Amino acid sequence: MANVLIIDDDAALRDGLAEALTDLGHHTETAPSGRTGLAALTDEIDAVLLDINMPGMDGIEVLRRIRSREAPPAVVILTAFASAENTIEAMRLGAFDHLTKPIGRDELKVLIERLPARRSAAAAATRASAFDTLIGSSEGMRRVQKQIGLAADSPSTVLILGETGTGKELVARALHVHSARKDSPFIAVNCAAIPEDLLESELFGHVKGSFTGATSDRSGAFRDAENGTLFLDEIGDMKLAMQAKILRVLQERMITPVGGKPIRTAARVVAATHRDLAKLVAQGEFREDLYYRLNVVPVAIPPLRERPNDIVPLAEHFLAQSVAPGQPMKQLGAAAIEKLKRCSWPGNVRQLRNVIERACVLTRSHLIEAEDIETSEQDHASRALPENDLPAAIAKLEEAMIRKALHACGGNRTEAARRLNINRQLLYTKMQRYGLSETSENPTTGVGKDDE
Ligand SMILES: Nc1ncnc2c1ncn2[C@@H]1O[C@H](COP(=O)(O)OP(=O)(O)OP(=O)(O)O)[C@@H](O)[C@H]1O
Ligand SMILES: [Mg+2]
Repeated sequence: MANVLIIDDDAALRDGLAEALTDLGHHTETAPSGRTGLAALTDEIDAVLLDINMPGMDGIEVLRRIRSREAPPAVVILTAFASAENTIEAMRLGAFDHLTKPIGRDELKVLIERLPARRSAAAAATRASAFDTLIGSSEGMRRVQKQIGLAADSPSTVLILGETGTGKELVARALHVHSARKDSPFIAVNCAAIPEDLLESELFGHVKGSFTGATSDRSGAFRDAENGTLFLDEIGDMKLAMQAKILRVLQERMITPVGGKPIRTAARVVAATHRDLAKLVAQGEFREDLYYRLNVVPVAIPPLRERPNDIVPLAEHFLAQSVAPGQPMKQLGAAAIEKLKRCSWPGNVRQLRNVIERACVLTRSHLIEAEDIETSEQDHASRALPENDLPAAIAKLEEAMIRKALHACGGNRTEAARRLNINRQLLYTKMQRYGLSETSENPTTGVGKDDE
């Protein structure tokens, strides 16, 4: 049996939760506001279910105060309005979990069983600046937001993984902004864009005269980052010799400027790549020891096609950003929304942003219609073909051709198979492999329906 304190200004929700918990054999106490909740918080309370949006003191502040106590109970945030900001902030402040209301009885049961024994106090930290740039409330994005909150204040290296355009750099910035290092610099270095022979000086700096062209001292990115965050973007493209140097920095926290003496660095390293590092390790192109060193805290951002519920909120976010001064925000028509949802977004969020920006510029009326949305699936699919991986490139092409054929045949698989010059069974197998059997390219004509 657990002693649970429920803090929520909504009486019906409060009583509903209390009733369900009592049914499950627990003891409950309730409070209608942050202040009364804090007053009711005794050492007997094992867990707190806490609302965020409350008049007076909000849930984040209540959480902060609870967490600053000597041995705080587990706090679970329950909110009807989960945002990236409040999810990251809650996890960072030490919430046990962050859940969206309403929460069912079964979910409640599992939650209470998962609660840890009472933990000792963790230092309450200052709140990161309030801005909500990381859009998305899909399961996948919420997981990423929680991971950011948990990892923000740790000194460990974070490795951000995700296809191109999924928001790796944005996540790196969120890690910085939500950390105690937020007032120090965030320095990003794109390891793929800098020629090999310049990267060392770019990262570690150099001493005047150490090589031809070194006409003055240069501090380098590690020193520029001070106590802040150094973002090593596209680390999968770094050459082996440089990888060895980075490994040494991560192990010893010392950098050596070209032509200079070793000095300490306090910068926190966050790395990102769209490449499959494990595979690069297997091919001998990436150091295994560095891979393990980087992979202590991996944050994997799911591709947009795996979180379709984020598409419309993201599109609206980009619409709001594209508003011309003095003009009202443009709206998406129903058919346009359908079209956005149907696209597989090989270029992920960046592609979506570009599509919306283009539509905003090219549409005069205030309503964006389906024909204003130019996704050109085919183009993007082939543009994103992996260069050095023939089987992966063939698979992409195959998927794109199958999608196109199904679309052209209004979803009729027999017809699509004939068009592709393969048998129907093979088409089925391939559709399953590419996850096309559930999706419907064209709901009005019913792709994916069995056309026997
Ligand atoms: N969750 C999100 N909310 C709001 N904007 C997003 C989100 N994810 C990505 N974006 C936007 O999409 C664009 C691409 O994101 P970003 O540059 O971070 O991707 P990336 O993964 O680093 O891509 P690449 O691998 O090509 O470098 C940026 O304009 C970014 O602001
Ligand atoms: Mg990037």
